[in-house]
Amino acid sequence: MRLIQKREEMMAVATALRNEGKTIGFVPTMGALHQGHLSLVQAASENDVVVCSIFVNPVQFNDAADLQKYPRTLKADLALLEKESCDIVFAPSAEEMYPEPPSETYDFGLLEQVMEGAYRSGHFNGVAVVVKRLFDIVQPHKAYFGFKDFQQLTIIEALVKQYALPVEIVPCPIIREDDGLAMSSRNRRLPEQHRALAPEIHRILKQSKDVLKSKALAETKQWVIDQLNAIDAFRLEYFTIVDRNSLQEVEEEDEILNSVGCVALYLGDVRLIDNIEY
Ligand code: PAJ
Repeated sequence: MRLIQKREEMMAVATALRNEGKTIGFVPTMGALHQGHLSLVQAASENDVVVCSIFVNPVQFNDAADLQKYPRTLKADLALLEKESCDIVFAPSAEEMYPEPPSETYDFGLLEQVMEGAYRSGHFNGVAVVVKRLFDIVQPHKAYFGFKDFQQLTIIEALVKQYALPVEIVPCPIIREDDGLAMSSRNRRLPEQHRALAPEIHRILKQSKDVLKSKALAETKQWVIDQLNAIDAFRLEYFTIVDRNSLQEVEEEDEILNSVGCVALYLGDVRLIDNIEY
């Protein structure tokens, strides 16, 4: 496994691989790797070469404290990737990615005005800035994104379409702990009593699939909200059921088939998101 920290070197290596006719699979991450990330690396091994990037992208954080608290564990990350089918780790510094403050702006219309976009202003522009730059440098044939960040996945699909980027986006399923909690780099910041409550999120979302069988859509939404609010330690930001493609809230019963229930909440000062496909 090779570690590359310079943009030019990564670009030259990717160009050479492409010229040799090799396919490149790419997994962008912010590090603090867990099985969720590693499942993307495993999926990417269908390509000749797997590149994983590790870069805590400052421009997608709208909260300076969140950026500062984000775990940085490069040594442990490299050890984990070494055991997987990862060939190249691209881990640039912030100066390397942004010699000057980036000024690109992207417009994803309604897609970025809901859920995470509504609560984290500028977040998806920052994600698009870094992902577009990473795609230009790594030149992947396929790039792998987790359904855990469902809205991000949809926005990256839109980015690829808007700019006709020559990359195929591969969505990958959410990997969970045995108790159902969606794996996240933020989970390691949960104190024990909050960690014990966190699996309730998935339990309630999963149960809502059954509730939908006997209750109307609006009632089911309210049922989920009531269940989540009944747990004192949860501070709910939103629960909404949206169309898989448009990300707009579904109102009609017959739209449920192609919908996703999405939740964001605070547990102490840790913000967790999860979702379920109906
Ligand atoms: P990060 O949060 O590190 O996530 C990197 C990738 O891992 C994303 O595609 C995310 O959806 C996926 N992932 C995280 N937890 C997962 C889980 N439990 N199961 C399956 N996949 C999971 O998302 C980002 O970084 C950044 O926004 C990035 C795209 C790298 C741009 O900076």
